[in-house]
Amino acid sequence: MTYHEMYGRYVADVEETLISLLPESGEFAPSGENAIPQHLCESMRYSLLAGGKRVRPVLLLAACEMLGGELEQAKVSAAALEMIHTYSLIHDDLPGMDDDDYRRGRPTNHKVYGVGHAILAGDGLLNYAYECMLQDALAWPGNLEGHVRAAKAIAGRAGVCGMIAGQSLDLLSEHMEPDADRLRYIHMHKTADLLTAPLLAAAYIAKADEAQIAALSRFGACVGLAFQIDDDLLDIEGDAAQLGKQTGMDAQRGKMTWPSLVGVEAAKEKSRALWSEALEALECFGDRAFFMREFARQLHGRKH
Ligand code: IPE
Ligand code: IPE
Ligand code: MG
Ligand code: MG
Ligand code: MG
Repeated sequence: MTYHEMYGRYVADVEETLISLLPESGEFAPSGENAIPQHLCESMRYSLLAGGKRVRPVLLLAACEMLGGELEQAKVSAAALEMIHTYSLIHDDLPGMDDDDYRRGRPTNHKVYGVGHAILAGDGLLNYAYECMLQDALAWPGNLEGHVRAAKAIAGRAGVCGMIAGQSLDLLSEHMEPDADRLRYIHMHKTADLLTAPLLAAAYIAKADEAQIAALSRFGACVGLAFQIDDDLLDIEGDAAQLGKQTGMDAQRGKMTWPSLVGVEAAKEKSRALWSEALEALECFGDRAFFMREFARQLHGRKH
């Protein structure tokens, strides 16, 4: 199979699994005790099914296959991680956070459904993700430990010591003099943690050994830091229509970014160095890392 065929298959798996898992909408009515108010259901689907790149779930599926694990066992965790990522975007765009109007090529969730329901849609996706992962863990009694460890890895990286910590320092650092240590902490947590989570989850599901877990952690950290530097660069040099979100917002908000710390050219150099370190981290996987290597190359140089 070529890289593009594999990529297409992974994305199709993610979309299908998301659709099969998502709760049905139904007007709140006494007859449907388990029905979700339609407004809430629609707001969750609006952001989740808006065509994100699906980087994190593709990483999870690809890492699982690279490690010789069963793809079927990884699908729900991959979809759940995309729900968590989408919640983080909905909340990231709220007026109390980055206050953005466009995301994934459409008006942001709160612009359409209101701030209250954007908060609830995020809360809904976050909790539903864990419900799905726990339900799925029970479906694999022969690998229950692997699934529980995978869910724990995702919870840790998405949680208060992970992405949320990064988002907190990102907000606290607005309009501050850029500082390398502070910025590294922000990027490691707000972005790299959610890109390492799928690799660790895959490692546990596929029963990887310690050396493989260490290599994947290094790959995830490099990809995560590079991915956020590229995001910061795209906010300056990217095309809003292609990105599906407004540009120039970081400077407007006084965000601490790599370009604000070292300038655009040095930020590009840093990104290149991180992408090449990411490829080095994959060496121990040999030919099995064929897809992962190409995926990293495609992400470096992305325009959206
Ligand atoms: C955006 O993530 C937030 C960052 C961590 C930079 P993506 O660039 O993966 O966004 P989608 O999922 O494709 O919309
Ligand atoms: C967002 O970083 C990271 C998370 C959502 C956790 P940014 O705030 O830079 O992402 P964009 O530019 O809004 O996508
Ligand atoms: Mg932000
Ligand atoms: Mg933002
Ligand atoms: Mg950004």
